[in-house]
Amino acid sequence: MTSTQTIALVGGTGRLGTLIGNALLDKADVQLRLLIRPGSRPKAAGLVQRGAQIVEGGIGEEAGDALAALCQGVSTVISAVQGGPEVIIEGQTRLFRAARDAGVKRFIPSDYSLDLFKVTPGHIPSSDWRRQFASVADAERGKMEVVHVLNGGFLDRGVMFGFIRVIDVDSQTAFVCGDGKQPMDWTTYADTARYVAEAAVDERPIPRKFCIAGDALDFEGIVRAYEEGSGKTLRVQRLGSLEDLDGSIDQLRKAQPANMRAWLPLMYYRSMLNGEGKLDQLMNDRYPSIRPTTVREYVAKEGL
Ligand SMILES: NC(=O)c1ccc[n+]([C@@H]2O[C@H](COP(=O)([O-])OP(=O)(O)OC[C@H]3O[C@@H](n4cnc5c(N)ncnc54)[C@H](OP(=O)(O)O)[C@@H]3O)[C@@H](O)[C@H]2O)c1
Repeated sequence: MTSTQTIALVGGTGRLGTLIGNALLDKADVQLRLLIRPGSRPKAAGLVQRGAQIVEGGIGEEAGDALAALCQGVSTVISAVQGGPEVIIEGQTRLFRAARDAGVKRFIPSDYSLDLFKVTPGHIPSSDWRRQFASVADAERGKMEVVHVLNGGFLDRGVMFGFIRVIDVDSQTAFVCGDGKQPMDWTTYADTARYVAEAAVDERPIPRKFCIAGDALDFEGIVRAYEEGSGKTLRVQRLGSLEDLDGSIDQLRKAQPANMRAWLPLMYYRSMLNGEGKLDQLMNDRYPSIRPTTVREYVAKEGL
């Protein structure tokens, strides 16, 4: 017989966090506790209606006693926050220390990406911040397990077909640099959330890097999966070599240093196309009840 576990979630009002919260509430024997910033309560209404408790506060400098209250009696703390270094390094460090000091068993930081541990320093600033947080966590974790969930890119309208824009659905065009022969990992937000929920309640030890993916396809494989899933034919636009991509990223960054949206998506795509962010060993089998969505299935289901 299993006893009820209390799981704490920070970032539960966000896109991924809401899905993680719901995946946890789908489980029997889970009490969900959320850290919610004043003013963000309405966004948590759905989770609260399903039984989640709220601790009011954030992980910024104002955090104070809220973090100890959040972590009291909790087995796993999950972070699904998004932000700059003040959130990813400083805020998560506050949360992590509160969790460790409260005797929490497992901490899942807000990574949910390609293998950020293999990405060349400087290639993706937001991966640099996550590695910086990870080195603090490695040094200070004591007995607490730290699990980095790595899922590649999100296989969703907003990311594969939006932010990174491998395929632009409106113009029916797929974009690539280099030969495109490197397999790339993709997982939906919803499947990632389900894996996170399983990892959160798992009583067995979990490896430091927990890698999962719905699909691992090279560029041609993605184009084929889209065409099969949609019944449409894509136009392929080749944008030069990977060196040309380096040049475009440098130019865009110099022109608009503060506008990350101008160059960050290309950085992620580069680290997928050149293979440096490829996940090593997928661990989907650890939770066989989840059968993650493939690119073809997603395209067909969403009518893209
Ligand atoms: N692999 C991929 O392709 C991919 C793509 C997108 C995102 N991601 C990753 O997924 C994770 C979640 O992203 P998302 O898109 O779901 O984020 P999001 O929708 O922007 O949500 C961010 C969450 O962080 C919370 N937050 C921010 N600063 C906070 C603070 N100081 N204290 C407490 N909470 C704070 C926000 O709370 P409020 O509601 O109070 O603002 C919100 O709940 C991130 O690690 C992101 O990098 C990965």
